[in-house]
Amino acid sequence: MRLLTTLNDLRDERAAWQRTGATVGLLPTMGYLHAGHLSHAHAARAENAIAVASIFVNPTQFGPNEDLARYPRDLERDLALLDGAGVDAVFAPTAAAMYPADFNTWVEPSGPLTERLEAAHRPGHFRGVATIVAKLLLLVAPTRAYFGQKDAQQVAVVRRLIADLNLPVELRVGPIIREPDGLAMSSRNVYLHGEARAAATALSHALEAGRAAWESLSAPASAESVREAMRAVVAAEPLAALDYAEVCDPDTCLPLTTAQAPALLAIAARIGPTRLIDNYLLRADGSWEIGHRVNELGQ
Ligand code: PAJ
Repeated sequence: MRLLTTLNDLRDERAAWQRTGATVGLLPTMGYLHAGHLSHAHAARAENAIAVASIFVNPTQFGPNEDLARYPRDLERDLALLDGAGVDAVFAPTAAAMYPADFNTWVEPSGPLTERLEAAHRPGHFRGVATIVAKLLLLVAPTRAYFGQKDAQQVAVVRRLIADLNLPVELRVGPIIREPDGLAMSSRNVYLHGEARAAATALSHALEAGRAAWESLSAPASAESVREAMRAVVAAEPLAALDYAEVCDPDTCLPLTTAQAPALLAIAARIGPTRLIDNYLLRADGSWEIGHRVNELGQ
């Protein structure tokens, strides 16, 4: 596995891939990898001649009061995990290489996607995400790019970015990988200990309650009872503070009045200082995408 830390290293390696016409799969990450990230590495490995991961804690997607400085990092461990997953190259640039002092051009998503859910709680977040994802896609020029349903609104933003800027890449979206008790895996779960770790299951329990409420509805009914079922679970957990429990359109993130597929059940809550998100997706065909527990993956 090659470790590429400069833009020139990456350009040389990319030129070699392009000379052979190899298909390239890219999984963008901020490191501190877990089984969720590795599921995308396995998919990229299986579907392309070359599998590339990027590791870059992107400063521009963190708000001033967020956890940029303490975001967990362990490059050595990440490299060993990616090597084990059969990844061919890792692009791990410095912040100065990606954002030189005279950097001044942004990719600014607009519309409801940048007003609702995460966008409402994290101003500027998706501008940072869209900008770094566009840069990574242009630098690596992959055939396919791998993202997780865990960050459902990020997937919607990236889908629009690729369509709106005509980026020649195929978006691949993998399911949420969960801990055995249902908690969606996240690099930020490392902040959770003891009672807080136990309380964090309120998010997936709320989504379960939302799904049960949805399935108890007869014919097209109001989506509000689904939101209420989700809110009630979080309200019953004293350590959890709800940011939102929403039922919305998966592509636009606009709230649904009527409970009709396709729908995204999206939730965000704080357990002390740690902010967590999770979601269930109801596809247009009526099937649920709720992810997989890591102990049930059979890997
Ligand atoms: P990061 O949080 O490191 O996540 C990298 C990728 O892994 C994202 O596509 C994310 O949705 C996916 N992922 C995270 N947790 C997952 C889980 N439990 N199951 C499956 N996939 C999961 O998302 C980012 O980094 C950044 O915003 C990035 C896209 C790299 C831009 O900086």
